[in-house]
Amino acid sequence: MQVNQKKDSNKPLINKLKSGEIKKILKFASDVAQNAYSPYSKFKVGACVLYEDGNAYTGCNVENASYGLTLCAERTAISSAIADGEKTKIVAVAIYSPNAKLCYPCGACRQWIAEFSKDAAVILEDTDGNPKSFSIKELLPHSFEL
Ligand code: THU
Repeated sequence: MQVNQKKDSNKPLINKLKSGEIKKILKFASDVAQNAYSPYSKFKVGACVLYEDGNAYTGCNVENASYGLTLCAERTAISSAIADGEKTKIVAVAIYSPNAKLCYPCGACRQWIAEFSKDAAVILEDTDGNPKSFSIKELLPHSFEL
């Protein structure tokens, strides 16, 4: 998938996103949430990760009878990007659940997002159906580093 992205300034990455692009990745996240495999929690989550080069990857949560083996939507999407050979930084991660507005990423997924960009934006849908944006730094200050 390709979402138009320009690499033309040194502003925080989110400032380079147009509102159309934000809506587009939220829509991708909401579409892929329908594919969630969540027979245990019945909680569907979709994520769409947008990269600096304009590539976007989606993922949904994949649960398991052994609950702790569950994969979150965000990590599924990022894994797909890495497997595809994506090398640029994450600009934004849109997360959507039909079961909850403002579906914040879990702690593990915040650490995964921070691994691939300290400037990423996390975009959620608020209770009015509008995009609400957070920086990964505010959601996960002092991420673990090696
Ligand atoms: N889940 C995600 O996909 N992403 C998160 O950031 C938090 C939780 C999923 C995992 C599980 O399948 C369901 O939501 C309920 O915890």
